Amino acid sequence: MNTMTIAIDGPAAAGKSTVAKKVAEKLSIIYVDTGAMYRALTWKAIQENVTLEDETALTELLKNTELKLVQSPMGQKVVLNGDDVSEAIRTNEVTNQVSIVAKHKSVREEMVKRQQELVEEQGVVMDGRDIGTHVLPNADVKIFMIASVEERAERRHKENKQKGYESNLEEIKSDIRKRDEIDSNRKTAPLVKAEDAIEVDTTSLSIEEVVDKIIAIVKEKQHREG
Ligand code: CDP
Ligand code: CDP
Repeated sequence: MNTMTIAIDGPAAAGKSTVAKKVAEKLSIIYVDTGAMYRALTWKAIQENVTLEDETALTELLKNTELKLVQSPMGQKVVLNGDDVSEAIRTNEVTNQVSIVAKHKSVREEMVKRQQELVEEQGVVMDGRDIGTHVLPNADVKIFMIASVEERAERRHKENKQKGYESNLEEIKSDIRKRDEIDSNRKTAPLVKAEDAIEVDTTSLSIEEVVDKIIAIVKEKQHREG
């Protein structure tokens, strides 16, 4: 098999992007972080004072915005109209509002179109919420990654500490719950496990264990299909 398309979906802080990046490296294919695209649009909308409930205005804004995911040895950079916004899109202000932006049907349609155009001939590892169900419905491997909300909040809390800032565990837990709730209950392309996805519970697994598990699933699939 020449190409390998891998879809990884799941709730916030399940470990998708960390694991997806490593899987892509091991398989020498690109990694696409679709959440970063919704975050970038949210950041831009806040900058431009666009009401986040205004679907028409947001769609217009997106259509006039150039969004690039640039692969670099330091990781993936998010470039918006030529500016590196990789850091700016990770603030709490963006995190706590991105699910409102991601609810809109016409915003999602434009995002899905752009995401599908990013697939390379050698393949892709793409993570998000609707990859297995809408963006790459024919993906070779679909993973639905989950972990308990307690563990996910702990992980984000630890991550914040490592980055040098204090955060409140209960607040993180409540924010994660709120975002999962909006993502899972929206009308357009909600967060659900694709019928043919394999569920991987990472609650008590290390990053390496999850990576190994996914690589094993990929190898098994390649072996079966010759
Ligand atoms: O990394 P984290 O789990 O915090 O979130 P993310 O992957 O950066 O995604 C941020 C938000 O974008 C999600 O909570 C969703 O509201 C939205 N999103 C989406 O709707 N569909 C995707 N394919 C990816 C992200
Ligand atoms: O992309 P997503 O929001 O699903 O999660 P992430 O940003 O990849 O992972 C959230 C945090 O959990 C990161 O700090 C990872 O290093 C950590 N993590 C972990 O401790 N154990 C795992 N099995 C996976 C991720």
